[in-house]
Amino acid sequence: MLGLTLGLALDFALECRRLAPLSPLDPNRALEHAWLLVLATLERVRSHGPFQRPTGVRLGDDRRLLEVELERAWIVLDPHAERGWSWPGHEPPAGTDAAALARLLDLYLPLCVDAEALVIAHLAQSLDGRIATHNGVSQFISGHEDLLHTHRLRALCDAVVVGSSTVVHDDPRLTTRLCSGHSPTRVVIDPRGRVGSDRRIMQDGPAPTVLIHREGTRAPPALASHVQVVTVVAAEGSWLSPVAILAALRARGLRRIFIEGGGVTVSRFLQAGLLDRLHVSVSPVIIGSGRPGFTLPEVLDLDDALRLEARCFEVGRDILFDCRLGAAEAEPQPPQ
Ligand SMILES: NC(=O)c1ccc[n+]([C@@H]2O[C@H](COP(=O)([O-])OP(=O)(O)OC[C@H]3O[C@@H](n4cnc5c(N)ncnc54)[C@H](OP(=O)(O)O)[C@@H]3O)[C@@H](O)[C@H]2O)c1
Repeated sequence: MLGLTLGLALDFALECRRLAPLSPLDPNRALEHAWLLVLATLERVRSHGPFQRPTGVRLGDDRRLLEVELERAWIVLDPHAERGWSWPGHEPPAGTDAAALARLLDLYLPLCVDAEALVIAHLAQSLDGRIATHNGVSQFISGHEDLLHTHRLRALCDAVVVGSSTVVHDDPRLTTRLCSGHSPTRVVIDPRGRVGSDRRIMQDGPAPTVLIHREGTRAPPALASHVQVVTVVAAEGSWLSPVAILAALRARGLRRIFIEGGGVTVSRFLQAGLLDRLHVSVSPVIIGSGRPGFTLPEVLDLDDALRLEARCFEVGRDILFDCRLGAAEAEPQPPQ
């Protein structure tokens, strides 16, 4: 009898959840719904291709994107509009933080609306351009909102890539935990096999782990079933060509790539001209020494510095520079 009552209660609860409208117009949950809308937009674009014309959308109860008449839409995704989206003639309801909502859509929709393949990097740095202390402590330079941003970028990508030093120092999990969305494949560029089997990405399996080794590096003896080793031929000295790394990932169906750090790894992809976007969060903190965000070949004239087109976003107490780099559209090919 008790089982039957519990069963009925559970059915009722599930039914309520199914019927509860995921209306983004609920001011208390608008940001959460806007984020779900971003995820649903990405799913729709990946299955049906980019939007070609202005399309009214809202979220269905199953969290999928519904295409609706423009006047019934919550927002209009418009590939020809400057922002890529617009309100269809009405403002969000009173009580909604309209500015925060617009910021979220401005920041993340361009990463979904027209990009099937994407290479994006992010670094959180101090006012003096450091991403960690000399001994490798980096948690946390930026605030919680920037950390949430990092998790959102993971959720929007197939793979999250870090250098071996980041895994050695931070022992990160590299999973998506602070927002809705999947956890990407975790990739470590580890040419010399420095990443030990005690690291969390080697032990826990909520997402696959790929170790990028230089050809000839000995693989660890007993790997967990979620860990795979991919070898890449060294380009110059011990460096691996970022082009070859991307090609190896794409050969495994990983096309949306998030380079999460550290500075050496991001700098190599930047130098190779492979980034579509670079996100740099600057925190009002001065470390005064430590590991640099960017290390590129020396220039002697400021005309040779990289001057980037950037949008700025307030992310909690930090400022996020969203730089569009327009990497070559061509598919990276492995070197001959
Ligand atoms: N603030 C942030 O946003 C942020 C983000 C991530 C990490 N961090 C911090 O940054 C520090 C690590 O950054 P880091 O710049 O020193 O190092 P890193 O980028 O994490 O790792 C660099 C290492 O990765 C390997 N590597 C990367 N690209 C390669 C390539 N193209 N070819 C061959 N090897 C390549 C090399 O490994 P080998 O040396 O093994 O040959 C290289 O020395 C840590 O303290 C971490 O806590 C900060």
